[in-house]
Amino acid sequence: MSYQKIYEYARSNPEGFWMEAASAIDWDVEPSHALSDENAPLYEWFADGQLNGCWNAVDRHVAAGHGDRTAIIYDSPITNTVQKISYAELQERVALLAGGLQAKGVTKGDRVIIYMPMVPQAVEAMLACARIGAVHSVVFGGFAAAELAVRIDDAQPKCIIAASCGLEPGRVVHYKPLLDAAIEAAAHKPDFCVIFQREQEVASLTDGRDVDWYGFQHGVAPAPCVPVEGNHPAYILYTSGTTGQPKGVVRHTGGHLVALNWSMRNLYDMNPGEVFWAASDVGWVVGHSYICYAPLTFGCTTIVFEGKPIGTPDAGTFWRVIDEHKVKCLFTAPTAFRAIKREDPEGSFIGKYDISSLESLFLAGERADPDTIQWAQAKLGVPVIDHWWQTETGWAICGNPLGIEKLPVKIGSPSVPMPGYDVQILDEGGHEVPAGELGAIAIKLPLPPATLPTLWNAEARFRKSYLEHFKGYYETGDAGYKDEDGYLYIMARTDDVINVAGHRLSTGGMEEVLASHPDVAECAVIGVADDLKGQMPLGFLCLNKGATKDAADVVSECVKLVRDKIGPVAAFKLAVVVDRLPKTRSGKILRGTMVKIADGESYKMPATIDDPAILDEIAVALKTLGYPKA
Ligand code: COA
Ligand code: AMP
Repeated sequence: MSYQKIYEYARSNPEGFWMEAASAIDWDVEPSHALSDENAPLYEWFADGQLNGCWNAVDRHVAAGHGDRTAIIYDSPITNTVQKISYAELQERVALLAGGLQAKGVTKGDRVIIYMPMVPQAVEAMLACARIGAVHSVVFGGFAAAELAVRIDDAQPKCIIAASCGLEPGRVVHYKPLLDAAIEAAAHKPDFCVIFQREQEVASLTDGRDVDWYGFQHGVAPAPCVPVEGNHPAYILYTSGTTGQPKGVVRHTGGHLVALNWSMRNLYDMNPGEVFWAASDVGWVVGHSYICYAPLTFGCTTIVFEGKPIGTPDAGTFWRVIDEHKVKCLFTAPTAFRAIKREDPEGSFIGKYDISSLESLFLAGERADPDTIQWAQAKLGVPVIDHWWQTETGWAICGNPLGIEKLPVKIGSPSVPMPGYDVQILDEGGHEVPAGELGAIAIKLPLPPATLPTLWNAEARFRKSYLEHFKGYYETGDAGYKDEDGYLYIMARTDDVINVAGHRLSTGGMEEVLASHPDVAECAVIGVADDLKGQMPLGFLCLNKGATKDAADVVSECVKLVRDKIGPVAAFKLAVVVDRLPKTRSGKILRGTMVKIADGESYKMPATIDDPAILDEIAVALKTLGYPKA
């Protein structure tokens, strides 16, 4: 069947389409129907079915006789390790870990925070939670203690599972002191912490609170899979909003597995037993969906890669992994390819490896720039597919469904909507605009399975952030347009979220940190264009009257403050002291205009600007930082 027919079928008969997709996973109790709409505009999928996420991702493959198949390949150029874990081994490891958690009182619905680097134990921890119906919340390792503390207070975990350390090129990330500081700062205290000791750094355990990963599993009974309702939360994943308070995106178990499982064949063109590699991190949604749940539920081999596209040890690492493990589909962020291209523009490393197993490259997480796509197309000789999605949706909103048919690739567009997504471009009044015209990208409700049903403990914020602006729609926060063929183009965010190396960050959150510096009276953070990372945060600081400290000292203290409070992942390294910020007469900071000046783009003088001369001062300040770039 063609993409068009399948999309149309899902639109005209969503019950039929999604119930068929649901039959491809295992249920303890089959759902009687797909969509529950009695609380519209809040929707749920497969609410009355019962299933287990871990059973679907692990046990069912063993039960079907595929226990010897490799489930996880841990490839860590940072530690020079390659380790393969079969589905049967994974089942045993996860059941014991789940048994350990259960023995210490973790039961269905309890939250468990996971703070771990890219080691297979991180995936095992996620699956162990799923096995007993606990709700995991993975926190990315590049976040600082204060960010972890915010998540602890919001999720209120009974247990935190952490590693002793993470390994970044040239530096050990000391997880345990970060964990201790976060628990100290949080009002909520977990009952206990499980620490996975890595040989690179063994942490000292806190008496009465911390248990050792292996020690606490000793002698416990392996836990069986606990059936949960289709609308039972599988996990909470925090993502940046416009403020420093992250949004806890909730994912329900049933819809999540159904849509991910569907996507493996139809979008990524995979078959069970083949090797899928999402070069991301378990701390991001890509890691949740396409390192853990989708490839495993579909019976593929997934790769847990602890390394970087360059420098571990060189720009040939990706090709080495593809060759060594016969990767069929690679999924990563464009920034990874920009890094490789910058280091090895000729692609000379590619020739050193046999990458003939690779059949497609999927890019997401940020805008895929045409140069990068064309470079990848030319060097790899496989379809390069840009696809667009968000933490909130859990899987692609738009893409090119290789497993159905390869639609023409239009560079600059993540192609067309996936089944279940009715994507529309709206003007301020909520009316659809004609093809080619820019507007807010909204999705008509209901959203398909796997997408967020709500925010954790914050239904009012969910409604306000996503559902209120355009009645009957989900507001994506992205702006863009559709062409005559229905291809979508994502142009910008409509809020203060920026995207740095595929990582979603809140400029508002950074401003909150900067404002806490005693000498800062007022500040603004914008995202400026960056050749490697797509965007980089840049701060403007207005100092208090009478502040005597040297401006350069305040800048370096502010850079350190953001690193300490948000984490290295914020990549906040650029800031400048200015006398005043450009504002509208009503006091709104003109961040958009500042971005245009920094990027060297032309701009219209905002009609409501209070004092146009300030823009010249901003331009002068930016020049001292080398912006706009030549
Ligand atoms: N734990 C601790 N620190 C981390 C971390 C982690 N898991 N991940 C990143 N960091 C740190 C980095 O060490 C770096 O610290 P530094 O300021 O001391 O150098 C900082 O956070 C910024 O990291 P990053 O933005 O990744 O920049 P980088 O310069 O280290 O690497 C790339 C640049 C392009 C190689 C890297 O961003 C990359 O591989 N991107 C791939 C994109 C990706 O995986 N996106 C996920 C969504 S799909
Ligand atoms: P995250 O929730 O971290 O996955 O970030 C989601 C945001 O990243 C989206 O709202 C977009 O702004 C951006 N994004 C993700 N994928 C793409 C893409 N293919 N093209 C353009 N922007 C993208």
